[in-house]
Amino acid sequence: MPGTRYMTLQRHIIEGERRHPEATGELSALLSDLSLAAKVISLEVNKAGLVDIVGFTDDTNVHGEQVKKLDIFAHEMLIRAMDHGGHLCVMASEEEENIIHIPRKHQIGKYVLLFDPLDGSSNIDANVSIGTIFSIYKRVSPEHTPGTLEDCLQKGDKQVAAGYVVYGSSTIMVYTAGEGTHGFTLDPAFGEFLLSHESIQIPSQGKIYSLNEGNYKFWHPGLKRYIKYLQEDLNKPYSARYIGSMVADIHRNMLYGGIFMYPADARNPKGKLRLMYENNPMAFIIEQAGGRASDGKQRIMEIQPENLHERTPLYIGSKEDVLMVEKFLAEAEVLSAPG
Ligand code: AHG
Ligand code: MN
Ligand code: MN
Repeated sequence: MPGTRYMTLQRHIIEGERRHPEATGELSALLSDLSLAAKVISLEVNKAGLVDIVGFTDDTNVHGEQVKKLDIFAHEMLIRAMDHGGHLCVMASEEEENIIHIPRKHQIGKYVLLFDPLDGSSNIDANVSIGTIFSIYKRVSPEHTPGTLEDCLQKGDKQVAAGYVVYGSSTIMVYTAGEGTHGFTLDPAFGEFLLSHESIQIPSQGKIYSLNEGNYKFWHPGLKRYIKYLQEDLNKPYSARYIGSMVADIHRNMLYGGIFMYPADARNPKGKLRLMYENNPMAFIIEQAGGRASDGKQRIMEIQPENLHERTPLYIGSKEDVLMVEKFLAEAEVLSAPG
């Protein structure tokens, strides 16, 4: 096609960095290493039905959930791809209770990487989209020393980059380094991520809501009212769409407009999703696309984390939709307050 410009992920990252003369190229290298890990995981996900990799292991992860083999494959793949580049001082993963140190034989760098190696893993056996999520910070501890838990426990606002990969009908990697949100589709013929979604802008209001409605009876009254409002009070009710892989649900809503929720409820007062490697990176990506992410009261990225695996409620997506659910939640608080 005349005039078509093939923009690879690599080139896009490097061009972004050229706009910052102070940049050392390290962040570009980190993102490139991550894209390589994503390609390997993508291949493995695609052949999951063919080889004996699907199925439960005997292990449970730190949250007491049953872990599937592909989670562990992705977790180990990311560590292997990322531990020797010389750019990281510490890592953390959903699948490991403690922080992950860089082996002594490798150089220690100034960045921190947190990740959910496979998100939506209960969907693997059904051939439904799953993903990988990552979050990158600059260290706060002194350089050239091993990274610490303190390096990992920074507010989401301090992220320097974040991204996710969806292994769906095609594999797409979406990232932000604080200058908009951009999506790249993996071309299976070239093995390259090519720019397919430049400067994504989420509609300010959507038509889709996504949450697990099976938990209705445990919900906050404000959330019950909000969902009834979407279903009954509008001329055109919102559509319900819920895949059960937050990466895929949020990706769809970012493109079409809408809201994804994993609320706190009577059984899980902090919701289900994890702040450090699920909510913060998704919040950064959505805010960079013009959306909003909150725990119902405050911006996700302003929450001061206290531990690596902590959970927070999550309301994320089109700005007006997130503001609206916050309003419903606040009004119900006032109504239920004593006196
Ligand atoms: P993970 O596979 O990393 O444990 O995450 C699963 C999460 C998230 O992807 C999804 O939105 C949510 O769990 C679904 O939970 P419910 O089954 O409770 O709806
Ligand atoms: Mn997850
Ligand atoms: Mn996971």
